[in-house]
Amino acid sequence: MTSPEVLRSPEALRARCDEARCRGLGVGFVPTMGALHEGHLALAREARGRVGDAGLVAVSVFVNPTQFGPHEDFSRYPRDLAADVARCAEASVDVVFAPAVEAMYPPGDQTRVRVGALSEPLCGPLRPGHFEGVATVVTRLFAVAMPCVAFFGRKDYQQWRVLERLARDLLLPVEVVGVGTVRDRDGLALSSRNRYLSPEDRARATAVPRALSLAVRAYARGERRTAALVGCARAPLDALTPRVDYVELRDADTLEALPEVLPEGRRAVLAVAVHHGGARLIDNVVLGEEGAPCAVDEP
Ligand code: PAJ
Repeated sequence: MTSPEVLRSPEALRARCDEARCRGLGVGFVPTMGALHEGHLALAREARGRVGDAGLVAVSVFVNPTQFGPHEDFSRYPRDLAADVARCAEASVDVVFAPAVEAMYPPGDQTRVRVGALSEPLCGPLRPGHFEGVATVVTRLFAVAMPCVAFFGRKDYQQWRVLERLARDLLLPVEVVGVGTVRDRDGLALSSRNRYLSPEDRARATAVPRALSLAVRAYARGERRTAALVGCARAPLDALTPRVDYVELRDADTLEALPEVLPEGRRAVLAVAVHHGGARLIDNVVLGEEGAPCAVDEP
Protein backbone atom coordinates (compact mmCIF):
# COMPACT_ATOMS: atom_id res chain seq x y z
CA MET A 1 0.00 0.00 0.00
CA THR A 2 1.74 3.19 -1.13
CA SER A 3 0.90 6.50 0.49
CA PRO A 4 -0.64 9.10 -1.78
CA GLU A 5 1.26 12.24 -2.64
CA VAL A 6 -0.07 15.25 -0.68
CA LEU A 7 -0.26 18.45 -2.69
CA ARG A 8 -1.04 21.81 -1.12
CA SER A 9 -1.09 24.27 -4.00
CA PRO A 10 -3.53 24.47 -6.92
CA GLU A 11 -0.52 24.86 -9.24
CA ALA A 12 0.95 21.56 -8.04
CA LEU A 13 -2.34 19.69 -8.53
CA ARG A 14 -2.82 21.22 -11.97
CA ALA A 15 0.71 20.20 -13.01
CA ARG A 16 0.16 16.64 -11.76
CA CYS A 17 -3.17 16.32 -13.62
CA ASP A 18 -1.71 17.92 -16.79
CA GLU A 19 1.10 15.41 -16.74
CA ALA A 20 -1.35 12.49 -16.51
CA ARG A 21 -3.47 13.92 -19.34
CA CYS A 22 -0.36 14.42 -21.53
CA ARG A 23 0.36 10.74 -21.10
CA GLY A 24 -3.16 9.99 -22.30
CA LEU A 25 -4.37 8.92 -18.86
CA GLY A 26 -7.76 9.63 -17.31
CA VAL A 27 -8.11 11.82 -14.23
CA GLY A 28 -10.78 10.78 -11.71
CA PHE A 29 -11.58 13.28 -9.00
CA VAL A 30 -13.32 12.96 -5.62
CA PRO A 31 -14.00 16.24 -3.78
CA THR A 32 -14.40 15.85 0.01
CA MET A 33 -14.16 17.82 3.23
CA GLY A 34 -12.14 15.08 4.92
CA ALA A 35 -12.94 13.04 8.04
CA LEU A 36 -13.01 10.25 5.50
CA HIS A 37 -15.09 7.11 5.97
CA GLU A 38 -16.12 4.12 3.83
CA GLY A 39 -18.62 6.29 1.94
CA HIS A 40 -15.83 8.53 0.68
CA LEU A 41 -13.63 5.53 -0.06
CA ALA A 42 -16.41 4.01 -2.16
CA LEU A 43 -16.17 7.10 -4.40
CA ALA A 44 -12.39 6.76 -4.63
CA ARG A 45 -12.69 3.07 -5.51
CA GLU A 46 -15.25 3.90 -8.15
CA ALA A 47 -12.82 6.49 -9.53
CA ARG A 48 -10.05 3.89 -9.68
CA GLY A 49 -12.38 1.50 -11.48
CA ARG A 50 -13.12 4.17 -14.09
CA VAL A 51 -9.61 5.45 -14.83
CA GLY A 52 -7.87 2.09 -14.44
CA ASP A 53 -4.63 1.24 -12.65
CA ALA A 54 -2.59 3.64 -14.74
CA GLY A 55 -4.97 6.61 -14.44
CA LEU A 56 -4.78 9.33 -11.81
CA VAL A 57 -7.17 9.34 -8.84
CA ALA A 58 -7.19 12.58 -6.87
CA VAL A 59 -9.12 13.24 -3.65
CA SER A 60 -9.45 16.78 -2.36
CA VAL A 61 -9.72 17.40 1.38
CA PHE A 62 -10.92 20.93 1.95
CA VAL A 63 -13.36 22.20 4.56
CA ASN A 64 -14.96 24.85 2.40
CA PRO A 65 -15.88 27.92 4.46
CA THR A 66 -18.35 29.38 1.95
CA GLN A 67 -20.81 26.48 2.22
CA PHE A 68 -21.29 26.83 5.99
CA GLY A 69 -23.82 29.21 7.51
CA PRO A 70 -22.73 31.55 10.31
CA HIS A 71 -24.18 29.25 13.01
CA GLU A 72 -23.07 25.98 11.43
CA ASP A 73 -20.17 23.69 12.31
CA PHE A 74 -17.31 25.11 10.20
CA SER A 75 -14.97 25.69 13.14
CA ARG A 76 -15.62 22.31 14.81
CA TYR A 77 -15.77 20.25 11.59
CA PRO A 78 -13.37 17.29 12.17
CA ARG A 79 -9.95 17.83 10.58
CA ASP A 80 -7.26 15.11 10.59
CA LEU A 81 -5.25 15.12 7.40
CA ALA A 82 -2.85 12.35 8.47
CA ALA A 83 -5.78 9.98 9.09
CA ASP A 84 -7.39 11.00 5.78
CA VAL A 85 -4.17 10.32 3.86
CA ALA A 86 -3.91 6.89 5.50
CA ARG A 87 -7.52 6.09 4.49
CA CYS A 88 -6.81 7.23 0.93
CA ALA A 89 -3.89 4.79 0.79
CA GLU A 90 -6.43 1.99 1.48
CA ALA A 91 -8.31 3.00 -1.66
CA SER A 92 -5.14 3.34 -3.79
CA VAL A 93 -5.59 7.08 -4.26
CA ASP A 94 -2.65 8.73 -6.05
CA VAL A 95 -2.97 12.32 -4.90
CA VAL A 96 -4.55 14.09 -1.92
CA PHE A 97 -5.11 17.77 -2.55
CA ALA A 98 -5.31 19.71 0.72
CA PRO A 99 -5.16 23.43 -0.02
CA ALA A 100 -5.25 26.33 2.44
CA VAL A 101 -8.36 28.53 2.39
CA GLU A 102 -6.37 31.42 0.83
CA ALA A 103 -5.31 29.15 -2.03
CA MET A 104 -8.93 28.41 -3.00
CA TYR A 105 -10.18 31.92 -2.20
CA PRO A 106 -7.46 34.35 -3.33
CA PRO A 107 -7.35 37.70 -1.51
CA GLY A 108 -10.04 40.04 -2.85
CA ASP A 109 -12.08 37.12 -4.20
CA GLN A 110 -15.55 38.23 -5.33
CA THR A 111 -16.83 35.46 -7.58
CA ARG A 112 -19.64 33.03 -6.74
CA VAL A 113 -21.41 30.34 -8.77
CA ARG A 114 -25.14 29.82 -8.30
CA VAL A 115 -27.22 27.00 -9.77
CA GLY A 116 -30.93 27.87 -10.14
CA ALA A 117 -34.06 25.86 -9.41
CA LEU A 118 -32.32 22.67 -8.24
CA SER A 119 -30.79 24.61 -5.33
CA GLU A 120 -34.10 26.00 -4.18
CA PRO A 121 -36.16 23.22 -2.51
CA LEU A 122 -35.22 20.83 0.34
CA CYS A 123 -31.97 22.04 1.96
CA GLY A 124 -31.99 25.28 -0.06
CA PRO A 125 -34.17 27.47 2.19
CA LEU A 126 -32.81 25.91 5.39
CA ARG A 127 -29.17 26.52 4.52
CA PRO A 128 -29.10 29.85 2.68
CA GLY A 129 -25.99 30.18 0.53
CA HIS A 130 -25.00 26.54 1.07
CA PHE A 131 -25.33 25.33 -2.51
CA GLU A 132 -23.76 28.54 -3.80
CA GLY A 133 -20.72 27.75 -1.62
CA VAL A 134 -20.65 24.15 -2.84
CA ALA A 135 -21.04 25.16 -6.51
CA THR A 136 -18.33 27.82 -6.14
CA VAL A 137 -15.74 25.54 -4.59
CA VAL A 138 -16.45 22.62 -6.91
CA THR A 139 -16.14 24.91 -9.96
CA ARG A 140 -12.76 26.04 -8.64
CA LEU A 141 -11.64 22.48 -7.91
CA PHE A 142 -12.71 21.44 -11.42
CA ALA A 143 -10.84 24.43 -12.88
CA VAL A 144 -7.67 23.26 -11.15
CA ALA A 145 -7.88 19.50 -11.75
CA MET A 146 -9.91 19.48 -15.00
CA PRO A 147 -10.87 15.86 -14.34
CA CYS A 148 -12.56 13.80 -17.03
CA VAL A 149 -14.81 12.27 -14.39
CA ALA A 150 -15.82 13.36 -10.87
CA PHE A 151 -17.63 11.32 -8.22
CA PHE A 152 -20.27 12.46 -5.74
CA GLY A 153 -22.39 10.52 -3.26
CA ARG A 154 -26.10 10.15 -3.83
CA LYS A 155 -26.39 10.43 -0.04
CA ASP A 156 -26.26 14.16 -0.70
CA TYR A 157 -28.83 13.78 -3.44
CA GLN A 158 -29.60 17.45 -4.04
CA GLN A 159 -25.89 18.33 -4.06
CA TRP A 160 -25.21 15.64 -6.67
CA ARG A 161 -28.05 16.94 -8.86
CA VAL A 162 -26.91 20.55 -8.49
CA LEU A 163 -23.34 19.66 -9.46
CA GLU A 164 -24.44 17.56 -12.41
CA ARG A 165 -26.41 20.60 -13.66
CA LEU A 166 -23.47 22.91 -13.00
CA ALA A 167 -21.11 20.82 -15.16
CA ARG A 168 -23.68 20.70 -17.94
CA ASP A 169 -24.60 24.40 -17.82
CA LEU A 170 -21.00 25.64 -17.71
CA LEU A 171 -20.04 23.25 -20.56
CA LEU A 172 -17.36 21.70 -18.38
CA PRO A 173 -15.77 18.61 -19.91
CA VAL A 174 -16.36 16.69 -16.68
CA GLU A 175 -18.64 13.69 -16.34
CA VAL A 176 -20.41 13.84 -12.98
CA VAL A 177 -21.11 10.39 -11.54
CA GLY A 178 -23.43 9.71 -8.57
CA VAL A 179 -22.43 6.79 -6.34
CA GLY A 180 -24.86 4.85 -4.12
CA THR A 181 -25.06 5.52 -0.38
CA VAL A 182 -22.82 3.47 1.91
CA ARG A 183 -24.57 2.58 5.19
CA ASP A 184 -23.74 1.16 8.58
CA ARG A 185 -25.09 -2.31 9.41
CA ASP A 186 -28.24 -0.81 10.93
CA GLY A 187 -28.90 1.27 7.83
CA LEU A 188 -27.67 4.67 9.02
CA ALA A 189 -25.89 6.42 6.14
CA LEU A 190 -22.21 7.00 6.90
CA SER A 191 -21.43 10.66 7.43
CA SER A 192 -18.53 12.63 8.85
CA ARG A 193 -21.11 14.31 11.08
CA ASN A 194 -22.17 11.01 12.70
CA ARG A 195 -19.21 11.46 15.04
CA TYR A 196 -21.07 14.35 16.68
CA LEU A 197 -23.73 11.89 17.90
CA SER A 198 -23.79 10.67 21.52
CA PRO A 199 -24.46 6.90 21.86
CA GLU A 200 -28.11 7.72 22.70
CA ASP A 201 -28.51 9.99 19.67
CA ARG A 202 -26.74 7.44 17.47
CA ALA A 203 -29.32 4.84 18.55
CA ARG A 204 -32.22 7.23 17.92
CA ALA A 205 -30.81 8.20 14.52
CA THR A 206 -31.79 4.77 13.19
CA ALA A 207 -35.25 6.35 12.88
CA VAL A 208 -33.94 7.86 9.62
CA PRO A 209 -33.24 4.61 7.71
CA ARG A 210 -36.39 3.10 9.25
CA ALA A 211 -38.47 6.02 7.99
CA LEU A 212 -37.12 5.58 4.46
CA SER A 213 -37.59 1.81 4.64
CA LEU A 214 -41.26 2.12 5.62
CA ALA A 215 -41.88 4.29 2.57
CA VAL A 216 -39.96 1.87 0.32
CA ARG A 217 -42.14 -0.95 1.62
CA ALA A 218 -45.36 1.02 1.12
CA TYR A 219 -44.30 1.90 -2.42
CA ALA A 220 -43.50 -1.75 -3.13
CA ARG A 221 -47.01 -2.65 -1.97
CA GLY A 222 -48.46 -0.26 -4.52
CA GLU A 223 -48.95 2.94 -2.51
CA ARG A 224 -48.73 5.89 -4.91
CA ARG A 225 -50.37 8.69 -2.91
CA THR A 226 -47.68 11.25 -2.18
CA ALA A 227 -49.05 12.24 1.25
CA ALA A 228 -49.37 8.61 2.32
CA LEU A 229 -45.77 7.82 1.31
CA VAL A 230 -44.50 10.89 3.16
CA GLY A 231 -46.71 9.96 6.13
CA CYS A 232 -45.10 6.48 6.39
CA ALA A 233 -41.70 8.10 6.72
CA ARG A 234 -42.86 10.85 9.07
CA ALA A 235 -44.19 8.54 11.77
CA PRO A 236 -40.88 7.13 13.13
CA LEU A 237 -39.19 10.51 12.74
CA ASP A 238 -41.84 12.41 14.67
CA ALA A 239 -41.66 9.77 17.40
CA LEU A 240 -37.87 9.75 17.84
CA THR A 241 -36.39 12.87 16.34
CA PRO A 242 -36.37 16.15 18.21
CA ARG A 243 -36.25 18.29 15.07
CA VAL A 244 -37.35 17.32 11.58
CA ASP A 245 -36.29 19.84 8.92
CA TYR A 246 -38.21 18.13 6.14
CA VAL A 247 -39.61 14.88 4.80
CA GLU A 248 -40.44 15.38 1.15
CA LEU A 249 -41.16 13.41 -1.96
CA ARG A 250 -39.84 15.15 -5.07
CA ASP A 251 -39.28 14.43 -8.73
CA ALA A 252 -36.00 12.48 -8.77
CA ASP A 253 -34.58 14.40 -11.73
CA THR A 254 -35.81 17.98 -11.32
CA LEU A 255 -36.60 17.98 -7.57
CA GLU A 256 -39.93 19.61 -8.44
CA ALA A 257 -43.03 19.03 -6.30
CA LEU A 258 -45.20 16.06 -7.29
CA PRO A 259 -48.94 15.69 -7.83
CA GLU A 260 -51.14 14.06 -5.17
CA VAL A 261 -50.80 10.67 -6.85
CA LEU A 262 -47.54 9.60 -8.48
CA PRO A 263 -48.09 9.10 -12.20
CA GLU A 264 -46.89 5.80 -13.68
CA GLY A 265 -43.20 6.00 -14.54
CA ARG A 266 -42.54 9.20 -12.59
CA ARG A 267 -39.31 8.73 -10.65
CA ALA A 268 -39.55 10.06 -7.11
CA VAL A 269 -36.96 10.64 -4.39
CA LEU A 270 -37.96 10.65 -0.75
CA ALA A 271 -35.58 12.99 1.07
CA VAL A 272 -35.30 13.67 4.79
CA ALA A 273 -33.28 16.05 6.96
CA VAL A 274 -33.34 15.86 10.76
CA HIS A 275 -31.34 17.07 13.73
CA HIS A 276 -30.09 14.62 16.35
CA GLY A 277 -28.06 16.02 19.21
CA GLY A 278 -25.42 18.19 17.59
CA ALA A 279 -25.72 16.66 14.13
CA ARG A 280 -27.84 17.45 11.11
CA LEU A 281 -28.44 14.23 9.16
CA ILE A 282 -29.76 13.90 5.63
CA ASP A 283 -30.73 10.79 3.74
CA ASN A 284 -32.89 9.74 0.81
CA VAL A 285 -34.08 6.89 -1.32
CA VAL A 286 -35.35 6.74 -4.89
CA LEU A 287 -38.61 4.78 -4.61
CA GLY A 288 -38.83 1.67 -6.72
CA GLU A 289 -35.13 1.76 -7.58
CA GLU A 290 -33.35 1.23 -4.28
CA GLY A 291 -33.98 -1.38 -1.63
CA ALA A 292 -34.99 -0.54 1.94
CA PRO A 293 -32.01 0.88 3.86
CA CYS A 294 -32.80 -1.45 6.79
CA ALA A 295 -35.16 -4.21 7.88
CA VAL A 296 -38.48 -2.99 9.30
CA ASP A 297 -40.96 -5.03 11.35
CA GLU A 298 -44.11 -6.18 9.63
CA PRO A 299 -47.15 -4.47 11.19
P1 PAJ B 1 -18.29 15.57 2.19
O1 PAJ B 1 -19.43 15.69 3.12
O2 PAJ B 1 -16.93 15.29 2.76
O3 PAJ B 1 -18.63 14.46 1.15
C1 PAJ B 1 -17.77 14.20 0.07
C2 PAJ B 1 -18.47 13.26 -0.89
O4 PAJ B 1 -18.71 12.01 -0.25
C3 PAJ B 1 -19.84 13.81 -1.32
O5 PAJ B 1 -20.01 13.60 -2.71
C4 PAJ B 1 -20.79 12.98 -0.50
O6 PAJ B 1 -22.07 12.84 -1.09
C5 PAJ B 1 -20.05 11.65 -0.44
N1 PAJ B 1 -20.54 10.83 0.68
C6 PAJ B 1 -20.64 11.20 1.98
N2 PAJ B 1 -21.19 10.19 2.71
C7 PAJ B 1 -21.45 9.18 1.86
C8 PAJ B 1 -22.02 7.87 1.99
N3 PAJ B 1 -22.44 7.41 3.15
N4 PAJ B 1 -22.13 7.11 0.88
C9 PAJ B 1 -21.70 7.56 -0.32
N5 PAJ B 1 -21.15 8.79 -0.51
C10 PAJ B 1 -21.02 9.59 0.55
O7 PAJ B 1 -20.10 16.84 0.23
C11 PAJ B 1 -19.12 17.46 0.55
O8 PAJ B 1 -18.12 16.92 1.34
C12 PAJ B 1 -18.85 18.89 0.10
O9 PAJ B 1 -20.07 19.57 -0.02
C13 PAJ B 1 -18.04 18.98 -1.23
C14 PAJ B 1 -18.78 18.35 -2.40
C15 PAJ B 1 -16.67 18.32 -1.05
C16 PAJ B 1 -17.80 20.47 -1.56
O10 PAJ B 1 -17.14 21.12 -0.53
